[in-house]
Amino acid sequence: MKKINKIFKKSKSIALDTYLEKVLYDKSFGYYQKKNPFGINGDFVTAPNISNVFCEMISIWLISFWENLGKPKKINFVELGPGNGDFCLALLKTIKNFSEFGKCLNIMLYEKSEKLIKIQKNRIISEKVSWIKNLDKIKKGPVVFFGNEFLDALPIKQFRKINNHIYEKYAYLNKNKIDFIFKKAQKIQVSKLKNYELLHGNGIIEYPEYGFKELNIVCSKIKKLNGGALFIDYGYKTENNIDTLQSVMKHKFNDIKKNIGNADITSLVNFSLYKKYFNSNGLLVEDIISQSKFLQKMGILERIRIAGNKMGKKEKQDLYSRVHRLINPNMMGRDFKVIFTKNKNCNFSLAFK
Ligand SMILES: C[S@@+](CC[C@H](N)C(=O)[O-])C[C@H]1O[C@@H](n2cnc3c(N)ncnc32)[C@H](O)[C@@H]1O
Repeated sequence: MKKINKIFKKSKSIALDTYLEKVLYDKSFGYYQKKNPFGINGDFVTAPNISNVFCEMISIWLISFWENLGKPKKINFVELGPGNGDFCLALLKTIKNFSEFGKCLNIMLYEKSEKLIKIQKNRIISEKVSWIKNLDKIKKGPVVFFGNEFLDALPIKQFRKINNHIYEKYAYLNKNKIDFIFKKAQKIQVSKLKNYELLHGNGIIEYPEYGFKELNIVCSKIKKLNGGALFIDYGYKTENNIDTLQSVMKHKFNDIKKNIGNADITSLVNFSLYKKYFNSNGLLVEDIISQSKFLQKMGILERIRIAGNKMGKKEKQDLYSRVHRLINPNMMGRDFKVIFTKNKNCNFSLAFK
């Protein structure tokens, strides 16, 4: 707690997103800087941890996009927030079966956590892969960005409307414990909420200012160099003005004010808002679809049927139950959604139509 107290040295309260940035990424106590949170011994599992076939479907989608772009001699693929590196390892394995594409592919990993970069570098040994700290380093296109559970990990702001005035959520120390208060929001923040038509409902208004800042450069690279960005995450399409911040530790929900630096904190992604954001940045989003639809359109069921033919009973059962978890609407199939943004003149829409 002593280390955490330091973040309130300069001012007694800090905006929610600044606070989240510190508790997740501060070099000395940030959650992602000291833990490997993935897998049964960690705090949560993600789709690439659950099954390689998830990664195969994304890899096949990427190869099809490359074909649609006219098979350019070089294509940059940037994974945003690669976690423990499972996706990248599976992609490298898949491209062994697609040598023409493999020769053209250049992979860049964009990761904020030093601890995770170390883990990734230990696991991923390939001359095709490099790590970048700044997306501006990407000078040549086309470029395809991909983030699985990247958007939900980015800090958000929260606001509330009280008697027609807008207030922003701040974190502060209350008798040595973290607590939250609402303070009058700055005019500039209110006008951003207005621009995105977020002020009509009552309750909590969530705004991913940090996420938009991260994606500004993604949008400008797509416009300039051609390509697109695919994001998969849990979230919603219709706003209902609820507080979606959640904390998880050892696979269980955790009180957001407790175990700071030892528990993950995320929020649900407002997909319609991201769609508006991409459209207002000159890109195109045709549809937001469920993970279940995406994976099935990409042929995941045929893939496991063929793979299952070569497997023993136990192995086959394991594969089927993992894929069931990914596509069943009551598990990850519906709550996880997929958004793809691209240039307005791009006609690639595999899995979305
Ligand atoms: C929930 S994990 C998902 C990891 C991985 N994509 C997966 O599906 O297993 C979020 C990842 O995004 C990274 N991350 C969060 N904010 C970031 C940022 N601003 N820049 C780069 N990486 C970031 C985290 O460190 C972590 O690797």
